[in-house]
Amino acid sequence: MAEERDMTPQEEYGPVVGSCDHDGEEQVAPPSFEANQLSKIGHVIGVISGKGGVGKSMVTGILATQLARSGARVGILDADITGPSVPRMFGMAGKRLTALGNMFLPTISDGGVKVVSANLLLDHEDDPVLWRGPVLAGAIRQFWEETSWGPLDYLLVDMPPGTGDVALTVFQSLPVDGVVIVTSPQDLVSMIVGKAVKMANMMDIPVLGLVENLSYVACPDCGRKIEVFGPSKLPEVAAGYGLPVLGRLPIDPALAAAADEGKIEQAVPADALQDCVAAVREACAVVDAQA
Ligand SMILES: Nc1ncnc2c1ncn2[C@@H]1O[C@H](COP(=O)(O)OP(=O)(O)OP(=O)(O)O)[C@@H](O)[C@H]1O
Ligand SMILES: [Mg+2]
Repeated sequence: MAEERDMTPQEEYGPVVGSCDHDGEEQVAPPSFEANQLSKIGHVIGVISGKGGVGKSMVTGILATQLARSGARVGILDADITGPSVPRMFGMAGKRLTALGNMFLPTISDGGVKVVSANLLLDHEDDPVLWRGPVLAGAIRQFWEETSWGPLDYLLVDMPPGTGDVALTVFQSLPVDGVVIVTSPQDLVSMIVGKAVKMANMMDIPVLGLVENLSYVACPDCGRKIEVFGPSKLPEVAAGYGLPVLGRLPIDPALAAAADEGKIEQAVPADALQDCVAAVREACAVVDAQA
C-alpha cells in the first residue's frame, strides 16, 4: 500500500511561475487568491530581503506607522507565519484575532494599523508554529480571502526570510504592486541583495528600491553619522541593479527597545524612511493612473 504523505506545495498550489516540468514545458501559475466583499484593499506592498534578521519587520513597522500618521488606512499582513514579530511591535502581545462569522477581523493598533498574524491565533505568543508548507500557504490564503480588512489604502506584507513556500505563495497569489528590499551593510558586499532582486524579477514584481538598515550609528552628542561597517556601498550597489536608494536607517537601540515593548508607533522618528514612504505612494499612484 502506498504510504500516505502530505502534498508538496507545488502539488497543492502549482509550480513556480516560469519553472519547467519534466517535458521542459512552461507551467501555468496557480490561481490568484480571491478578493472578498468585506475588504477593499487599494495596494499591496511587500517588504523582503535576501536573508533573515536584517530588519524587514522593523521597516514594515516604520512604513506602516508613517503611512498611518499621514492619514492613510494601513494594514499589515504578517506573512512570517513561523516567526511572526509584528503583533509584539504594535503592542498586541497576548491579543487574539476575533472573528465575525467565518471571517477574521484584524487586530487594530493604537495608531489605527490593522494587523493579521499567526501570532494572534496562538494561545501563548511564544508557542512555536509547527506547520508544514501547504498549511503555511493556506494561512496566507485565509489572511487574504477569509479576513475582513475593510477599506485599506495600503496593505504591507512583512515577508518571512528566504524564498520558501510562503514567499512564493505571496508573490504568486496576492496582487503585490511592488516590493521594498531591506539590506544591511554586510549584504551589500555579497550576493544577498541580488538574490532578493532576482526573486522579485522572476516573480514579475516591481522593486521600488533599497533600504539599508543598521547603516550607521548617530553620535548621541553631536549627531555625526559613524559608519561602523565603513563607508556605505548602497549607492553603487543600488545603481548596479538600476534601483533607487529609498533610505538608510541607523542602528537605533531606543527604537529597538520600543519595538520590543510594543511601542513602535510612539517611537518612530518623524523623519524615518520618509523617502521610502514617498516612493510607496508614488508607485501606487502610478498603478492607479494606469488602472
Ligand atoms: N535599525 C535598527 N536599530 C536597532 N535594532 C534594530 C534595527 N532594525 C532591526 N533591529 C532589531 O534587530 C532584530 C531583527 O530585526 P527584524 O525582526 O526587523 O528583522 P527581520 O528581517 O524581520 O528578521 P526575520 O528575517 O527573522 O523576520 C530585532 O530585534 C529588531 O528590533
Ligand atoms: Mg521579520
